[in-house]
Amino acid sequence: MGLNEELNLLIQSKYPVVFFESIDEVYALRQLKGIAGQLGLDFYQWSLTDGLKRGDNDSAYYLSKEPVKALRTILDFFSPAEGAPTQPGLFVLKDFDKYLEDPLTLRLFKDAINKIKNSKNTFVILSAEYKLPKEIEPDSAHLVGGYPTEEEIGPLVKETYTELRQSKSGVTSSINTEEFKKIISALKGLSAQQIRSVINQCVAQDSRLDIKDLEIIETYKKKVFDQEGLLEFCLSEDKDNIAGFVNLKRWLEERQDCFHANCGLPAPKGLLLMGVQGCGKSLAAKIIAREFNLPLYRLDLSRLYSKYIGETEQNLRKALGIVEKLCPSCLWIDEIEKGFASSSGDIDGGVSQRILGTFLTWTQERATGCFLIATANNVYQLPPELLRKGRFDEIFFVDLPDTQTREELFKIHLKHRALKPEDFDLKLLAQSSADFSGAEIEQAIISALYRASSEKETITTRHILEQVQSTKPLSALKSEEITSLRSWAKERTIPV
Ligand SMILES: Nc1ncnc2c1ncn2[C@@H]1O[C@H](COP(=O)(O)OP(=O)(O)OP(=O)(O)O)[C@@H](O)[C@H]1O
Ligand SMILES: [Mg+2]
Repeated sequence: MGLNEELNLLIQSKYPVVFFESIDEVYALRQLKGIAGQLGLDFYQWSLTDGLKRGDNDSAYYLSKEPVKALRTILDFFSPAEGAPTQPGLFVLKDFDKYLEDPLTLRLFKDAINKIKNSKNTFVILSAEYKLPKEIEPDSAHLVGGYPTEEEIGPLVKETYTELRQSKSGVTSSINTEEFKKIISALKGLSAQQIRSVINQCVAQDSRLDIKDLEIIETYKKKVFDQEGLLEFCLSEDKDNIAGFVNLKRWLEERQDCFHANCGLPAPKGLLLMGVQGCGKSLAAKIIAREFNLPLYRLDLSRLYSKYIGETEQNLRKALGIVEKLCPSCLWIDEIEKGFASSSGDIDGGVSQRILGTFLTWTQERATGCFLIATANNVYQLPPELLRKGRFDEIFFVDLPDTQTREELFKIHLKHRALKPEDFDLKLLAQSSADFSGAEIEQAIISALYRASSEKETITTRHILEQVQSTKPLSALKSEEITSLRSWAKERTIPV
């Protein structure tokens, strides 16, 4: 259900108070005004700075800035003098939660609520963060919103672009339908104000709006999410950047269109990638998002714990709520065992147990279109509930790369450093690096580059070989752990 319908329904269900939690006041107000119009309600808005105003009137009611006075004014509407109009209203009170700490304001608000019960009048508290006194909660509904949906983003982009064209000469655009869809999908998760701002940025650069601006949008979005803290928006990666993972690539290809076209089959739900460190699990998450053509959001559980001690559970709910609004998308939980470790239940007073519960319920009930990608190193720390059949479509095991994959790894990482793979003896390098992880192969190339540069030489196979030979791969130190991991995986997973 879209925000508009949800709000509509709440107002029609005669909730006296709707708490509208939104990061984007302009968008929310526009939405509310539209709904008031549809339902034939008078639209009022109040803020501490502007006072109480009706409709598009510029002037506020006399002395209505103070919350108490505003409420008294509104209460007068409900006991109209004879002959006065009694059209019901939608009263939007900005940041009103903050003033309810004052006992007189709270009392008057309760009086007002009692007055309007069972009428079509509705109070909407518009605020960035949900907070309501206990005694008001039963009369109120809570709504989170402020992210325009895909249907709303298109017109918003067009409108912003038209404004820019009118205000500046020489502004052009060339976007076909397919590209426009991509841009819209990339803008999802941003507020209306943020969308306007980033479209401005795109056009400011070269007076053009085109598909190349996708990069600006993604960088902007990444910054926004990093600041907000709970979810991180990640850039996806092309599948050519990963060596091996043949089974995973095939799995993805078979399901590629399921999130977009009407493919007639249920959309896949999620994958768990577990296995050896440094072998490309995190990289694979980024590739999955690209293959499905979905935005990728990373939920960092350890950040959830450390940053918001005492509010962890609430924040998890919040993050999951945001993800739902961003569907279709990929939610990536990296190192899932760290957040849901089965053994830590007693240590942290049960927080991780409750978190796990919240998360499991969500995985069961979540809307379709949210693809879950979980990665894990340590399977023994994973709570068994998480592995139960049906939670994930598949569990993939990521082992150390075989010889052929190592050859591919050298090729990919030489290319990443602007070197020509054909100048190197890839077969020899692959044979000499048994038990190396992908990360270690990448590191060997980097160290060889440093060495060659310090010796004022051009990098050759020999430089890399030297680095390989002087490195003891981590897997050698952890061979027991890896053997046990493999035997665990054999019965429960399929290789990537
Ligand atoms: N199969 C691979 N193909 C290409 N590059 C790889 C591969 N495996 C590892 N790498 C390189 O190693 C880096 C580290 O890998 P990544 O972070 O994906 O491993 P991981 O399995 O998530 O490790 P960790 O368990 O430490 O989180 C990657 O950014 C990539 O450069
Ligand atoms: Mg990783």
